Amino acid sequence: MKQILITGATSGIGYSAAKSFQQLGHQVIITGRRPEKLDQALHSLNTTHTGNPVQGLICDQAVPADIEQLSATLTAQGTHLDALILNAGIFEPQPFDAMTLDALEHTMRVNFTGPLLLAQTLSQRMKNPGSMVFVSSIVVGKAFASTIAYSASKAAFEGAMGAMNVELADKGIRVNCVRPGVTATEIQAKSGMDNDAIAGLQQAMSQTPAGRMLEPRDIVPAIKYLALESSLGARNATVTIDGGYCL
Ligand SMILES: NC(=O)c1ccc[n+]([C@@H]2O[C@H](COP(=O)([O-])OP(=O)(O)OC[C@H]3O[C@@H](n4cnc5c(N)ncnc54)[C@H](OP(=O)(O)O)[C@@H]3O)[C@@H](O)[C@H]2O)c1
Repeated sequence: MKQILITGATSGIGYSAAKSFQQLGHQVIITGRRPEKLDQALHSLNTTHTGNPVQGLICDQAVPADIEQLSATLTAQGTHLDALILNAGIFEPQPFDAMTLDALEHTMRVNFTGPLLLAQTLSQRMKNPGSMVFVSSIVVGKAFASTIAYSASKAAFEGAMGAMNVELADKGIRVNCVRPGVTATEIQAKSGMDNDAIAGLQQAMSQTPAGRMLEPRDIVPAIKYLALESSLGARNATVTIDGGYCL
């Protein structure tokens, strides 16, 4: 049984990964930003699915004090992690000429600084061997309008991964990432897309080799591969799951 912490697992890809690890018999800890949403996810995971009860902890990764508190809680309960899934993220599209400093800094704080501080802090709570998996995005390799802050935030973490692997090697920790393509989750509505825009996305995805929009369950196997022993030889790897969108 592995101890696995997944950030931002109250919905979407993170929730689906939590469910999958739980069903495999692992001990899963999920984090969320909003107490009511965290409770909802825990209720669903712990009443519907088989496996060990999932633990939920509040951590807004944009807030360094929350990261310290998360680390303190894990230390107090003696948790040592086999895998840390850095999944939580936001997508707040803005055209370049309208992009504000506040919006840029917010996206960088949530998608880059937060996961990096979490990785730094929680590297003290990881076993040897241990695995960190960052949920990046295809935007690092493919350009989309209005995604400058988002693309930069994901590319920044990927840029740090090589040196992280070098520095964390002594602790037996490897760092790799998954780049999902367009995946049906709450992130589209949260980003401000209306039903027509989401339908447009579905239409675009119907033209890809996969022929449909991806689902969280399409992304989870790549996360599992990088989190568990099957990926012991992988360092700084990027696994793209995009249904062929970038071909
Ligand atoms: N869906 C896609 O098409 C797609 C494509 C490429 C990459 N990704 C990446 O996949 C990851 C998961 O996204 P998703 O699609 O599953 O979206 P989602 O359903 O919106 O899940 C995002 C999760 O992150 C949490 N979160 C947001 N801000 C946070 C913060 N400051 N601190 C802690 N948690 C926070 C959310 O909680 P709240 O609900 O409380 O905000 C939620 O639990 C993200 O990193 C995203 O960039 C998604």
